[in-house]
Amino acid sequence: MNAPLPAEVLKQHLIDPEICIRCNTCEETCPIKAITHDSNNYVVDPDICNGCMACVPPCPTGAIDNWRLMVRAEAYGVQEQLGWEELPGEKALPETAAALPADDVPAVTGLAAPAPFSAPGATVPPWSAAHPYVNLYTHKTPMTATVVGNYRVTGADTESDIHHIVLDFGELPFPVLEGQSIGILPPGLDAQGRPHHARQYSLASPRDGERAGYNNLSLTVKRVTEDHAGAAAHGVCSNYLCDLAKNDKVQVIGPFGHTFLMPNHPRANLIMICTGTGSAPMRAMTERYRRRIDTGENGRLLLFFGARTERELPYFGPLMKLPRDFIDINLALSRETGQPKRYVQDLIRERAASVRELLADRNTCIYVCGLKGMEVGVLDALRDVTVQGGQDWSILHDALRREGRLHFETY
Ligand code: A2P
Repeated sequence: MNAPLPAEVLKQHLIDPEICIRCNTCEETCPIKAITHDSNNYVVDPDICNGCMACVPPCPTGAIDNWRLMVRAEAYGVQEQLGWEELPGEKALPETAAALPADDVPAVTGLAAPAPFSAPGATVPPWSAAHPYVNLYTHKTPMTATVVGNYRVTGADTESDIHHIVLDFGELPFPVLEGQSIGILPPGLDAQGRPHHARQYSLASPRDGERAGYNNLSLTVKRVTEDHAGAAAHGVCSNYLCDLAKNDKVQVIGPFGHTFLMPNHPRANLIMICTGTGSAPMRAMTERYRRRIDTGENGRLLLFFGARTERELPYFGPLMKLPRDFIDINLALSRETGQPKRYVQDLIRERAASVRELLADRNTCIYVCGLKGMEVGVLDALRDVTVQGGQDWSILHDALRREGRLHFETY
């Protein structure tokens, strides 16, 4: 009598659609393009994924870290996953397959492992970062916050309508750290008649509140009126947020993020590089430092901030009032009348000596937040200033990532 053939088992990688905030981090990180999305879901193609785990640490919510033991022939396909509202439960394996211990089941065999660093930044926080809370509130259990402030932080006559929005949580817990983000659930339904997905926004306030000692936080939100190509487009969540009035209620999920966090030890230096609303986490970190200025424990702050003009640079007034010996401010203006076009990467090169001095100090962490396009430009500039100083950029870049000292949040 012939024994039954053992079924080939797959440890299938799945994304939980109820937790995922559709931030695109996993798709960007995947070194072999196994992750794709439509307007509903982000999904993993079982025919491509090799279980390399590169996408797992960067995911701000942990939605990415779901696995099911499946008979390969029955693996969930991309189309099926795109239609999911929730993850299916575990399936019982046939006896011939279930005998395999789970840890012995390869995700997919025969594909090469990725290079050790597939992302430009670190996937671990700085060693002294405080431990963050994540996913306390989800799509199914959102928190209601009250709007206690909403005002414009760019010149009224400019096209950049950027708002500073303060949300208060009353007596309910919403513990956050600088560098973390939250999700906002806009009311109403999308074109398919489903509730809108959450939109992610970085905190602009430090851990102890927009107003120190209060249970509130702030966001920096740009009203979206056009897409990346410049065509007219209505940003569902940004317009909702920018139009909120005091005392309105907002549904919030999160917090998210466990790597883009600031160091917590004395004399840690921060190099902050941002454009537009990417200034939110830089404001949070700077404010954290400002509130403890009298302790004498602060390291140096070096800021590179890009905007079209001064009037389109969020928080321009308050930023310029900060003492020069507290923060070294470098503004890169790209469309200021009578001035040459400058990007943050140009200023990094101009300030090469200061950047090199800080890079040489292992107490320095670098944060980059804003337009996706600046990622390459900033990396090139950091490489150039390092090489000019006679150092090997690839060695330094690897160390910055391994030590959790170089962080990107771009969109
Ligand atoms: P630009 O004038 O060329 O658009 P935005 O106002 O669209 O949010 O952009 C913020 C700033 O970032 C602007 O000064 C913009 O310049 C600049 N910027 C655009 N692309 C890049 C890039 N690839 N690298 C650095 N800065 C950029």
